[in-house]
Amino acid sequence: MIAIGADHAAYTAKEQLKEYLLEQGYQLRDYGCDSDESVHYPLYGAAVARAVQSGECERGILLCGTGIGMSVVANKFDGVRAALCHDAFTAAASREHNDANILVMGARVLEQRQIREIADIWLHGQFAGGRHQLRLNMIAEIEKGR
Ligand code: RB5
Repeated sequence: MIAIGADHAAYTAKEQLKEYLLEQGYQLRDYGCDSDESVHYPLYGAAVARAVQSGECERGILLCGTGIGMSVVANKFDGVRAALCHDAFTAAASREHNDANILVMGARVLEQRQIREIADIWLHGQFAGGRHQLRLNMIAEIEKGR
């Protein structure tokens, strides 16, 4: 199950991406928002991050205008590794190196075609493990020490 969420700036992009991913056979749980009326992105970022943190959803996708606000919010949650991706390279690297469990994109930065491409690459990407796992363990230690 993939959790998906957006604020008003990315509502349309979320709806379009949802349609595309559903066509591909993915199961999605939509955490809002539900229109392009102005809302506060931390509410939606936190809802998706909580769903991933709890294991209710294996992965998450968040969109806002720049992607910055959503990534700041999602990365407040221990165990969440939210990656703001702008292109194929960052999408692939965020899976291979960071085992990112939330993909974040900026709907005012990217065209829908790019959003689809990045989501495709990210959803198919595999974590490389090895030295990258050691670094994720270090992140987990930092979280424990807070
Ligand atoms: C909303 O205007 C905008 O601030 C938001 O979508 C996002 O870009 C925040 O980081």
